[in-house]
Amino acid sequence: KKETRVTILPGDGIGPEVMEQGYKILKVLKKKFKLNISHYECDIGGIAIDKHGVSLPKCTIDSCAESDAVLLGSIGGPKWDNLPSHLRPEKSALLALRKHFNLFSNIRPAKIYPELHYLSPLRYDISKIGFDILCIRELTGGIYFGKPSGNSGYGLMENSFDTEIYYKFEIERISKMAFQIARLRKKCVTSIDKANVLNSSILWRKTVDSVSKSYPDISLNHLYVDNAAMQIIKNPSQFDVMLSSNLFGDILSDECAAIIGSIGMLPSASFNEKNFGIYEPSGGSAPDIAGKNIANPIAQILCISMFLYYTMKLPEISYLLEMSVREALRIGYRTKDISDSKKYVSTDEFGSQVAKLLSSRA
Ligand code: NAD
Ligand code: IPM
Ligand code: MN
Repeated sequence: KKETRVTILPGDGIGPEVMEQGYKILKVLKKKFKLNISHYECDIGGIAIDKHGVSLPKCTIDSCAESDAVLLGSIGGPKWDNLPSHLRPEKSALLALRKHFNLFSNIRPAKIYPELHYLSPLRYDISKIGFDILCIRELTGGIYFGKPSGNSGYGLMENSFDTEIYYKFEIERISKMAFQIARLRKKCVTSIDKANVLNSSILWRKTVDSVSKSYPDISLNHLYVDNAAMQIIKNPSQFDVMLSSNLFGDILSDECAAIIGSIGMLPSASFNEKNFGIYEPSGGSAPDIAGKNIANPIAQILCISMFLYYTMKLPEISYLLEMSVREALRIGYRTKDISDSKKYVSTDEFGSQVAKLLSSRA
Protein backbone atom coordinates (compact mmCIF):
# COMPACT_ATOMS: atom_id res chain seq x y z
CA LYS A 1 0.00 0.00 0.00
CA LYS A 2 1.01 3.57 -0.63
CA GLU A 3 3.37 5.11 1.90
CA THR A 4 1.90 7.56 4.43
CA ARG A 5 4.34 10.35 5.23
CA VAL A 6 4.24 11.99 8.63
CA THR A 7 6.17 15.02 9.80
CA ILE A 8 6.94 14.93 13.50
CA LEU A 9 7.32 18.20 15.38
CA PRO A 10 8.12 17.55 19.06
CA GLY A 11 8.47 21.25 19.91
CA ASP A 12 9.05 22.61 23.41
CA GLY A 13 8.62 21.70 27.08
CA ILE A 14 6.98 18.30 27.54
CA GLY A 15 6.54 18.02 23.75
CA PRO A 16 9.65 15.87 23.16
CA GLU A 17 8.90 13.71 26.24
CA VAL A 18 5.39 12.80 25.18
CA MET A 19 6.40 12.51 21.52
CA GLU A 20 8.94 9.88 22.55
CA GLN A 21 5.93 7.75 23.55
CA GLY A 22 4.31 8.53 20.21
CA TYR A 23 7.40 7.12 18.49
CA LYS A 24 6.99 3.86 20.43
CA ILE A 25 3.43 3.55 19.12
CA LEU A 26 4.50 4.32 15.54
CA LYS A 27 7.15 1.64 15.82
CA VAL A 28 4.52 -0.96 16.77
CA LEU A 29 2.25 0.20 13.95
CA LYS A 30 5.06 -0.20 11.44
CA LYS A 31 6.62 -3.41 12.72
CA LYS A 32 3.65 -5.38 14.02
CA PHE A 33 0.74 -3.96 12.05
CA LYS A 34 2.90 -3.61 8.93
CA LEU A 35 1.64 -0.12 8.21
CA ASN A 36 3.60 1.72 5.56
CA ILE A 37 4.35 4.90 7.50
CA SER A 38 7.50 6.99 7.09
CA HIS A 39 8.35 9.87 9.38
CA TYR A 40 10.63 12.89 9.42
CA GLU A 41 11.38 15.03 12.42
CA CYS A 42 11.69 18.82 12.20
CA ASP A 43 12.08 21.73 14.62
CA ILE A 44 9.31 24.12 15.54
CA GLY A 45 8.66 26.69 18.24
CA GLY A 46 11.10 27.98 20.83
CA ILE A 47 13.62 25.29 20.09
CA ALA A 48 13.62 26.33 16.42
CA ILE A 49 14.24 29.95 17.46
CA ASP A 50 17.22 28.77 19.49
CA LYS A 51 18.60 26.53 16.73
CA HIS A 52 17.69 28.39 13.53
CA GLY A 53 16.66 31.88 14.63
CA VAL A 54 13.07 31.41 13.49
CA SER A 55 10.17 29.52 15.11
CA LEU A 56 8.84 28.05 11.88
CA PRO A 57 11.78 27.29 9.54
CA LYS A 58 11.10 26.89 5.84
CA CYS A 59 12.32 23.28 5.88
CA THR A 60 9.68 22.51 8.52
CA ILE A 61 6.88 23.97 6.39
CA ASP A 62 8.24 22.15 3.33
CA SER A 63 8.33 18.84 5.14
CA CYS A 64 4.73 19.32 6.38
CA ALA A 65 3.65 20.21 2.83
CA GLU A 66 5.12 16.98 1.52
CA SER A 67 3.43 14.92 4.22
CA ASP A 68 -0.01 13.36 4.57
CA ALA A 69 -0.19 14.37 8.23
CA VAL A 70 1.72 16.15 10.98
CA LEU A 71 2.15 14.99 14.53
CA LEU A 72 2.89 17.92 16.81
CA GLY A 73 3.93 18.04 20.47
CA SER A 74 3.59 21.49 21.99
CA ILE A 75 4.99 24.94 21.53
CA GLY A 76 6.10 27.81 23.75
CA GLY A 77 7.52 28.38 27.18
CA PRO A 78 8.85 30.99 29.64
CA LYS A 79 12.12 31.37 27.75
CA TRP A 80 10.29 32.94 24.79
CA ASP A 81 7.40 34.64 26.62
CA ASN A 82 8.99 38.08 26.52
CA LEU A 83 9.47 38.25 22.78
CA PRO A 84 7.31 40.79 20.94
CA SER A 85 3.84 39.29 20.52
CA HIS A 86 4.17 38.55 16.79
CA LEU A 87 7.44 36.67 17.37
CA ARG A 88 6.24 34.50 20.25
CA PRO A 89 6.30 30.87 19.09
CA GLU A 90 2.57 30.40 19.79
CA LYS A 91 1.79 33.02 17.15
CA SER A 92 4.76 32.84 14.80
CA ALA A 93 4.80 29.03 14.65
CA LEU A 94 1.56 27.44 15.83
CA LEU A 95 -0.99 29.96 14.56
CA ALA A 96 1.14 30.51 11.45
CA LEU A 97 1.16 26.78 10.71
CA ARG A 98 -2.62 26.54 11.15
CA LYS A 99 -3.14 29.51 8.85
CA HIS A 100 -0.58 28.36 6.28
CA PHE A 101 -2.34 25.02 5.79
CA ASN A 102 -5.79 26.53 6.21
CA LEU A 103 -6.64 24.16 9.07
CA PHE A 104 -10.01 25.71 9.83
CA SER A 105 -11.55 22.72 11.51
CA ASN A 106 -10.38 21.58 14.94
CA ILE A 107 -11.79 18.49 16.62
CA ARG A 108 -11.33 17.68 20.31
CA PRO A 109 -13.08 14.58 21.62
CA ALA A 110 -13.59 14.70 25.39
CA LYS A 111 -15.00 11.69 27.16
CA ILE A 112 -14.84 10.33 30.66
CA TYR A 113 -13.31 6.88 30.68
CA PRO A 114 -15.10 4.57 33.12
CA GLU A 115 -11.66 3.60 34.45
CA LEU A 116 -11.08 7.20 35.49
CA HIS A 117 -14.53 8.14 36.68
CA TYR A 118 -13.34 9.12 40.14
CA LEU A 119 -11.00 11.72 38.63
CA SER A 120 -13.76 13.95 37.38
CA PRO A 121 -14.53 17.00 39.49
CA LEU A 122 -18.17 16.49 38.51
CA ARG A 123 -20.56 15.10 41.10
CA TYR A 124 -20.97 11.36 40.54
CA ASP A 125 -24.72 11.49 39.89
CA ILE A 126 -23.96 13.87 36.99
CA SER A 127 -20.88 12.18 35.54
CA LYS A 128 -22.33 8.67 35.73
CA ILE A 129 -24.92 9.58 33.09
CA GLY A 130 -21.97 10.04 30.76
CA PHE A 131 -19.71 12.74 29.43
CA ASP A 132 -18.90 12.43 25.75
CA ILE A 133 -18.54 15.76 23.98
CA LEU A 134 -16.91 16.38 20.63
CA CYS A 135 -15.74 19.99 20.51
CA ILE A 136 -15.57 21.39 16.99
CA ARG A 137 -13.65 24.62 17.05
CA GLU A 138 -13.21 27.06 14.16
CA LEU A 139 -9.43 27.45 14.01
CA THR A 140 -8.31 29.99 11.41
CA GLY A 141 -10.66 32.90 11.99
CA GLY A 142 -12.21 35.04 14.69
CA ILE A 143 -10.34 37.20 17.15
CA TYR A 144 -7.11 35.19 16.75
CA PHE A 145 -6.58 36.54 13.27
CA GLY A 146 -8.94 39.54 12.89
CA LYS A 147 -7.54 42.88 11.75
CA PRO A 148 -7.03 45.50 13.03
CA SER A 149 -5.07 44.21 15.96
CA GLY A 150 -2.45 46.27 17.70
CA ASN A 151 -1.65 49.12 20.03
CA SER A 152 -1.92 52.88 19.97
CA GLY A 153 -2.17 55.95 22.18
CA TYR A 154 0.03 57.21 24.98
CA GLY A 155 -0.16 57.59 28.74
CA LEU A 156 -3.57 56.83 30.16
CA MET A 157 -4.91 56.65 26.62
CA GLU A 158 -2.57 53.79 25.70
CA ASN A 159 -4.76 51.02 24.33
CA SER A 160 -4.66 47.63 22.65
CA PHE A 161 -7.25 46.00 20.47
CA ASP A 162 -8.15 42.81 18.65
CA THR A 163 -10.94 42.22 16.18
CA GLU A 164 -13.45 39.41 16.27
CA ILE A 165 -14.50 38.97 12.65
CA TYR A 166 -16.25 36.05 10.98
CA TYR A 167 -17.00 35.67 7.29
CA LYS A 168 -20.08 33.75 6.26
CA PHE A 169 -18.00 31.24 4.29
CA GLU A 170 -15.93 30.49 7.39
CA ILE A 171 -19.03 29.80 9.47
CA GLU A 172 -20.60 27.73 6.70
CA ARG A 173 -17.67 25.36 6.25
CA ILE A 174 -17.17 24.70 9.96
CA SER A 175 -20.93 24.21 10.46
CA LYS A 176 -21.03 21.65 7.66
CA MET A 177 -18.20 19.81 9.37
CA ALA A 178 -20.13 19.78 12.66
CA PHE A 179 -23.34 18.48 11.07
CA GLN A 180 -21.50 15.82 9.10
CA ILE A 181 -19.65 14.55 12.17
CA ALA A 182 -22.88 14.64 14.23
CA ARG A 183 -24.36 12.25 11.68
CA LEU A 184 -21.82 9.65 12.80
CA ARG A 185 -22.69 10.26 16.46
CA LYS A 186 -25.84 11.11 18.40
CA LYS A 187 -27.07 13.52 15.71
CA CYS A 188 -27.13 16.55 17.96
CA VAL A 189 -25.26 19.83 17.48
CA THR A 190 -25.09 22.61 20.04
CA SER A 191 -23.77 25.86 18.59
CA ILE A 192 -22.15 28.26 21.04
CA ASP A 193 -22.14 32.04 20.61
CA LYS A 194 -22.75 35.38 22.25
CA ALA A 195 -25.46 36.54 19.88
CA ASN A 196 -27.07 38.66 22.58
CA VAL A 197 -24.08 41.03 22.32
CA LEU A 198 -21.72 40.35 19.43
CA ASN A 199 -22.46 41.08 15.77
CA SER A 200 -20.11 38.30 14.71
CA SER A 201 -22.22 35.92 16.81
CA ILE A 202 -25.47 37.09 15.20
CA LEU A 203 -24.05 36.14 11.79
CA TRP A 204 -22.72 32.93 13.34
CA ARG A 205 -26.16 31.89 14.61
CA LYS A 206 -27.95 32.90 11.40
CA THR A 207 -25.47 30.98 9.25
CA VAL A 208 -25.51 27.83 11.40
CA ASP A 209 -29.33 27.92 11.22
CA SER A 210 -29.30 28.16 7.46
CA VAL A 211 -26.72 25.37 7.04
CA SER A 212 -28.81 23.18 9.37
CA LYS A 213 -31.63 23.19 6.79
CA SER A 214 -29.54 20.80 4.71
CA TYR A 215 -29.23 18.45 7.68
CA PRO A 216 -32.84 17.83 8.76
CA ASP A 217 -31.82 14.61 10.53
CA ILE A 218 -29.58 16.51 12.96
CA SER A 219 -31.03 18.40 15.89
CA LEU A 220 -29.61 21.87 16.47
CA ASN A 221 -29.59 23.92 19.63
CA HIS A 222 -28.01 27.33 20.31
CA LEU A 223 -26.54 28.38 23.63
CA TYR A 224 -24.87 31.57 24.79
CA VAL A 225 -21.29 30.84 25.78
CA ASP A 226 -21.71 31.85 29.42
CA ASN A 227 -24.64 29.49 29.83
CA ALA A 228 -22.75 26.78 27.91
CA ALA A 229 -19.83 27.01 30.35
CA MET A 230 -22.34 26.33 33.11
CA GLN A 231 -24.33 23.61 31.31
CA ILE A 232 -21.15 21.60 30.61
CA ILE A 233 -20.84 21.20 34.37
CA LYS A 234 -24.49 20.97 35.39
CA ASN A 235 -25.94 18.84 32.61
CA PRO A 236 -23.23 17.61 30.22
CA SER A 237 -25.24 14.71 28.80
CA GLN A 238 -27.26 17.22 26.73
CA PHE A 239 -24.17 17.74 24.53
CA ASP A 240 -23.00 15.62 21.64
CA VAL A 241 -21.22 17.86 19.12
CA MET A 242 -20.36 21.31 20.43
CA LEU A 243 -19.66 23.86 17.68
CA SER A 244 -17.90 27.10 18.47
CA SER A 245 -15.68 29.94 17.33
CA ASN A 246 -11.92 29.94 17.73
CA LEU A 247 -11.74 31.64 21.14
CA PHE A 248 -14.84 30.08 22.70
CA GLY A 249 -13.67 26.63 21.56
CA ASP A 250 -10.24 27.18 23.07
CA ILE A 251 -11.75 27.96 26.45
CA LEU A 252 -14.55 25.39 26.49
CA SER A 253 -12.26 22.56 25.36
CA ASP A 254 -9.98 23.18 28.36
CA GLU A 255 -13.09 23.08 30.57
CA CYS A 256 -13.99 19.70 29.05
CA ALA A 257 -10.40 18.52 29.64
CA ALA A 258 -10.65 19.37 33.31
CA ILE A 259 -13.89 17.42 33.55
CA ILE A 260 -12.46 14.25 32.01
CA GLY A 261 -9.61 14.43 34.50
CA SER A 262 -6.59 16.07 32.87
CA ILE A 263 -5.62 18.25 29.94
CA GLY A 264 -2.94 15.63 29.39
CA MET A 265 -5.61 13.29 28.03
CA LEU A 266 -7.32 15.51 25.45
CA PRO A 267 -6.10 15.01 21.87
CA SER A 268 -6.91 17.31 19.00
CA ALA A 269 -6.96 17.16 15.22
CA SER A 270 -7.07 20.03 12.76
CA PHE A 271 -8.06 19.74 9.12
CA ASN A 272 -8.28 21.74 5.94
CA GLU A 273 -10.67 21.11 3.04
CA LYS A 274 -8.24 18.55 1.59
CA ASN A 275 -8.39 16.49 4.77
CA PHE A 276 -4.72 17.22 5.51
CA GLY A 277 -4.44 16.96 9.28
CA ILE A 278 -2.25 18.16 12.12
CA TYR A 279 -2.61 16.15 15.30
CA GLU A 280 -1.57 17.67 18.61
CA PRO A 281 -2.43 17.42 22.31
CA SER A 282 -4.90 20.15 23.34
CA GLY A 283 -2.67 21.19 26.22
CA GLY A 284 0.55 23.13 26.16
CA SER A 285 4.23 22.68 26.87
CA ALA A 286 3.61 22.46 30.65
CA PRO A 287 6.80 24.23 31.72
CA ASP A 288 6.03 23.45 35.37
CA ILE A 289 6.59 19.71 34.80
CA ALA A 290 8.84 19.67 31.72
CA GLY A 291 11.99 17.57 31.89
CA LYS A 292 10.73 15.48 34.82
CA ASN A 293 9.39 12.46 32.92
CA ILE A 294 6.00 12.83 34.64
CA ALA A 295 3.84 14.32 31.87
CA ASN A 296 0.80 12.36 30.75
CA PRO A 297 1.40 11.01 27.22
CA ILE A 298 -2.22 9.91 26.66
CA ALA A 299 -3.22 12.97 24.59
CA GLN A 300 -0.21 12.47 22.32
CA ILE A 301 -0.95 8.76 21.96
CA LEU A 302 -4.64 9.39 21.27
CA CYS A 303 -3.52 11.84 18.57
CA ILE A 304 -2.09 8.82 16.77
CA SER A 305 -5.41 7.07 17.23
CA MET A 306 -7.09 10.06 15.56
CA PHE A 307 -4.43 9.96 12.81
CA LEU A 308 -5.20 6.29 12.18
CA TYR A 309 -8.89 7.11 11.96
CA TYR A 310 -8.92 10.32 9.96
CA THR A 311 -5.76 10.16 7.83
CA MET A 312 -5.12 6.46 7.40
CA LYS A 313 -8.82 5.52 7.45
CA LEU A 314 -8.11 2.52 9.68
CA PRO A 315 -10.87 2.72 12.31
CA GLU A 316 -10.19 -0.79 13.64
CA ILE A 317 -6.54 -0.10 14.43
CA SER A 318 -7.43 3.35 15.76
CA TYR A 319 -9.84 1.61 18.14
CA LEU A 320 -7.23 -0.97 19.17
CA LEU A 321 -4.89 1.84 20.17
CA GLU A 322 -7.58 3.59 22.21
CA MET A 323 -8.37 0.25 23.86
CA SER A 324 -4.67 -0.24 24.66
CA VAL A 325 -4.63 3.10 26.48
CA ARG A 326 -7.75 2.10 28.40
CA GLU A 327 -6.29 -1.30 29.20
CA ALA A 328 -3.18 0.36 30.69
CA LEU A 329 -5.53 2.45 32.84
CA ARG A 330 -7.62 -0.57 33.79
CA ILE A 331 -4.63 -2.49 35.07
CA GLY A 332 -3.69 0.48 37.19
CA TYR A 333 -1.13 2.48 35.22
CA ARG A 334 -1.36 6.17 36.16
CA THR A 335 0.78 9.19 35.49
CA LYS A 336 1.06 11.74 38.28
CA ASP A 337 -1.72 14.04 37.05
CA ILE A 338 -4.31 11.24 37.10
CA SER A 339 -3.17 9.36 40.18
CA ASP A 340 -5.20 9.68 43.36
CA SER A 341 -2.40 8.24 45.46
CA LYS A 342 1.34 8.84 45.78
CA LYS A 343 1.95 5.99 43.37
CA TYR A 344 2.40 6.72 39.70
CA VAL A 345 4.49 5.69 36.72
CA SER A 346 6.71 7.86 34.53
CA THR A 347 5.82 9.20 31.09
CA ASP A 348 8.23 6.65 29.72
CA GLU A 349 6.78 3.65 31.57
CA PHE A 350 3.24 4.59 30.58
CA GLY A 351 4.20 4.89 26.91
CA SER A 352 6.06 1.58 26.93
CA GLN A 353 3.11 -0.16 28.54
CA VAL A 354 0.65 1.10 25.92
CA ALA A 355 3.06 0.10 23.15
CA LYS A 356 3.35 -3.37 24.68
CA LEU A 357 -0.41 -3.77 25.00
CA LEU A 358 -0.95 -2.59 21.42
CA SER A 359 1.74 -4.94 20.21
CA SER A 360 -0.06 -7.87 21.87
CA ARG A 361 -3.20 -7.02 19.87
CA ALA A 362 -1.46 -7.12 16.49
P1 NAD B 1 -0.39 23.99 29.71
O1 NAD B 1 -1.43 23.18 29.06
O2 NAD B 1 0.99 23.84 29.20
O3 NAD B 1 -0.37 23.65 31.29
C1 NAD B 1 -1.50 23.86 32.13
C2 NAD B 1 -1.44 22.89 33.30
O4 NAD B 1 -1.72 21.56 32.81
C3 NAD B 1 -0.06 22.81 33.94
O5 NAD B 1 -0.21 22.62 35.34
C4 NAD B 1 0.56 21.58 33.32
O6 NAD B 1 1.52 20.93 34.13
C5 NAD B 1 -0.66 20.69 33.10
N1 NAD B 1 -0.45 19.80 31.94
C6 NAD B 1 -0.48 20.13 30.64
N2 NAD B 1 -0.22 19.08 29.87
C7 NAD B 1 -0.02 18.03 30.70
C8 NAD B 1 0.31 16.67 30.53
N3 NAD B 1 0.47 16.14 29.30
N4 NAD B 1 0.45 15.88 31.62
C9 NAD B 1 0.28 16.39 32.84
N5 NAD B 1 -0.03 17.68 33.09
C10 NAD B 1 -0.17 18.50 32.03
O7 NAD B 1 -0.87 25.50 29.64
P2 NAD B 1 -0.13 26.87 30.09
O8 NAD B 1 0.65 26.64 31.34
O9 NAD B 1 -1.18 27.89 30.06
O10 NAD B 1 0.88 27.16 28.90
C11 NAD B 1 2.26 26.78 28.89
C12 NAD B 1 2.87 27.09 27.53
O11 NAD B 1 2.29 26.25 26.54
C13 NAD B 1 2.60 28.52 27.06
O12 NAD B 1 3.73 28.95 26.36
C14 NAD B 1 1.42 28.36 26.13
O13 NAD B 1 1.29 29.40 25.21
C15 NAD B 1 1.75 27.06 25.48
N6 NAD B 1 0.62 26.32 24.90
C16 NAD B 1 0.89 25.63 23.75
C17 NAD B 1 -0.09 24.84 23.17
C18 NAD B 1 0.24 24.07 21.95
O14 NAD B 1 1.39 23.95 21.57
N7 NAD B 1 -0.73 23.50 21.27
C19 NAD B 1 -1.34 24.73 23.80
C20 NAD B 1 -1.57 25.45 24.98
C21 NAD B 1 -0.57 26.23 25.52
C1 IPM C 1 -4.55 25.48 21.90
C2 IPM C 1 -3.60 26.52 22.45
C3 IPM C 1 -3.33 27.57 21.40
C4 IPM C 1 -4.65 28.22 21.02
C5 IPM C 1 -2.31 28.66 21.81
C6 IPM C 1 -1.02 28.09 22.32
C7 IPM C 1 -2.05 29.61 20.69
O1 IPM C 1 -4.12 27.09 23.62
O2 IPM C 1 -4.21 24.84 20.89
O3 IPM C 1 -5.60 25.26 22.50
O4 IPM C 1 -5.13 29.14 21.70
O5 IPM C 1 -5.23 27.79 20.02
MN1 MN D 1 -5.92 26.10 24.37
